[in-house]
Amino acid sequence: MSPDTYVPAAQPYVRPRPKPGSYDPAHTTAGGLHGELARLEAQAALSFDEELDALRSLGVLRPDARVLVELGAGSGAVTQRLRAAYPGLRVEAVDHDPALAAHIPRDAKTAVTISDATRVPLPDRSADAVLLRYVLQHVPDPAPVLAEALRLLRPGGRIAVTEVDAGCWGMADPIYPELAYLHAALGEAQRRAGGDRDIGRRLTRMLRAAGFADVAMRPFAATTDRHPVEAFAAHLGPQRLEPLVASGVLTLRDVALAADRWNRFRADPDAWVMLLGFTAAGTAPDPSRDPSENTVNTLPDIPPTKGPDAP
Ligand SMILES: C[S@@+](CC[C@H](N)C(=O)[O-])C[C@H]1O[C@@H](n2cnc3c(N)ncnc32)[C@H](O)[C@@H]1O
Repeated sequence: MSPDTYVPAAQPYVRPRPKPGSYDPAHTTAGGLHGELARLEAQAALSFDEELDALRSLGVLRPDARVLVELGAGSGAVTQRLRAAYPGLRVEAVDHDPALAAHIPRDAKTAVTISDATRVPLPDRSADAVLLRYVLQHVPDPAPVLAEALRLLRPGGRIAVTEVDAGCWGMADPIYPELAYLHAALGEAQRRAGGDRDIGRRLTRMLRAAGFADVAMRPFAATTDRHPVEAFAAHLGPQRLEPLVASGVLTLRDVALAADRWNRFRADPDAWVMLLGFTAAGTAPDPSRDPSENTVNTLPDIPPTKGPDAP
């Protein structure tokens, strides 16, 4: 066969992915990039208060913290909330996606750097704290990102990694077991793209393997006791599943099933849901100290609560 008559075999269409990893903001939820910006905002609004409690109790946001580096800051949904909660804190927001980072609100204490999280153009030991929120689940190899976080932290500085785990996503009542295969398909699609929706269970081991000391983890929860059911739409509605139709993972019938069950859930005045997240934290050890000293728990003491019989 001459080169002129050669016809290549049909290749399945693979949508070009702008960045490595499983996060593709234009195809994460219905509505493309615009829809994803709204989803990130809803996600932050839902649980930021609980996440802040976890960060405080893990000793990540100490009163004397001056600089926090937020790796994978996205559109700044959490960046701006951190700035509001800690007016004295300088936040160095880092993301490799300029289309998302363009939405981070700038001010005198918020700097934005477009960079991969493994090669951040900031000096060694320049951060009191590093935050990675819903980033590592999308990264094919978290180890180099954690190594970069360790480089950025001053000795004694704390890292916080906030994540989910598909095996422990929460509870709902009523619950629809017939939707389980849809969520399994979402997790599998993320895994094939290099991500990991089961990462929550691995966080503390990842931090120890990366060289962090004083590793601890706190779960946090968002429930319909504090938020209206509509606040959970970005998580429980069919929008997250819609892009999986275009990529051939799900059918329109699957998405219609998810939409039907979500509509039943939101119409039930007695419906209840709790979504769980996990924050793991660790300390950058001081290389000049004896390794055993670095494992001393440095979390701040929490004053005991006075019960009714307490003096
Ligand atoms: C699910 S979004 C979370 C955004 C933000 N942390 C939040 O909670 O709203 C994941 C973010 O990680 C960023 N990201 C993923 N891999 C990255 C990498 N290797 N370097 C820098 N940013 C990365 C993405 O661009 C995206 O903004």
